[in-house]
Amino acid sequence: MNDTLIPAAIACIQDLFRGNSGGHDAAHSLRVYRNALRILEEEPGCDTEIVALAALLHDADDHKLFRTKGNANARSFLTAQQVAPEKIERICEAINAVSFSRNRGKRPQTLEGRIVQDADRLDALGAIGIARTFAYGGEHGRSPDESVAHFHEKLLLLKDELNTEAARRLAEPRHAFLERFLEEYEKESGE
Ligand code: NI
Repeated sequence: MNDTLIPAAIACIQDLFRGNSGGHDAAHSLRVYRNALRILEEEPGCDTEIVALAALLHDADDHKLFRTKGNANARSFLTAQQVAPEKIERICEAINAVSFSRNRGKRPQTLEGRIVQDADRLDALGAIGIARTFAYGGEHGRSPDESVAHFHEKLLLLKDELNTEAARRLAEPRHAFLERFLEEYEKESGE
């Protein structure tokens, strides 16, 4: 892999997400990247560069944050870095497999897409997932109770929708932590 590509992608997302505090920020993309690398260790036979770049850039054109079409931000970065057009297509395909709402019940067709989707979902679980849910909820005018509803509508379902064995294992303690948090939240709410 061209070793200036990853630092350049990190700089690119830091730039794109400047000023964002609602759970989709550069720190999220970096965690997704690290999750993807951990899953990759157990999934030989896929293209590391595609997984790494798709993980870093997976929210670069997120419709909640940007008005771009056709992965324009990701494409303009990758084109400027002289990534081969065929590879850019495969990276964008993996990115487009990630979205939860647009891909409900659909399994990404490529292994690269399945890994990045799992890596993103892991970041919606555990202590990080809880913190992100309230940050996003607060930014969109939701009360804590309304944010908690999101745990039931989405986050608690994730562990059964993961694609890879490695992600299922990494998800276990994070899922258990969510359940413990909800138990305590409901107990204190009823006191
Ligand atoms: Ni994401």
